[in-house]
Amino acid sequence: MINKNILMKQVADKTLKCLVTMIGLIFIIGCDDTITNQDVDNTVIPDKDVSFSKHIYPLFQIKCFSCHGNGRYEAGLDLTLRTRFVDGRIVVPGDTITSILVWRINRPPRAGFAPMPPLYMPQLNNNQIKGVKTWIVEGAKEN
Ligand code: HEC
Repeated sequence: MINKNILMKQVADKTLKCLVTMIGLIFIIGCDDTITNQDVDNTVIPDKDVSFSKHIYPLFQIKCFSCHGNGRYEAGLDLTLRTRFVDGRIVVPGDTITSILVWRINRPPRAGFAPMPPLYMPQLNNNQIKGVKTWIVEGAKEN
């Protein structure tokens, strides 16, 4: 005859193992904070109070860092650190007309300048272009 206690213990063991595995999985999924092109494209940048950390940094991370960060710095431009490109030339706080970065992300870009990102790369949508400009107009802050 099957011992009821042993059977109960086996069921309890299995349940516990299963629970531990599930919690582990939830933990792993919950901790995966790598963002994708889709995550960034699904984020709508507001018309005001644009945040560097929430909107601009992740956007540049996905659309620009492959050439301007992580060991590759085309044109010597590093977009991973705000203080490196908010320099009064690439980005002029409060001024979208003279900010070189805006010449490049505008569509069409300023005459004589190549578009950024290059056309064969995932592009910025209109909301993202407007968002970057709003961030600059609002002072290109580390917010
Ligand atoms: C596939 C590679 C690539 C990606 C992605 C890319 N760039 Fe560039 N970028 C370049 C290259 C190459 C140059 C230098 C040639 C030129 O000036 O057009 C450049 C130049 C620039 C310049 C001019 C710098 C200066 O000193 O005049 C700016 C500004 C710029 N990129 C901004 C951006 C931004 C913003 C993004 C993302 C939205 C981006 N780039 C994404 C390759 C890239």
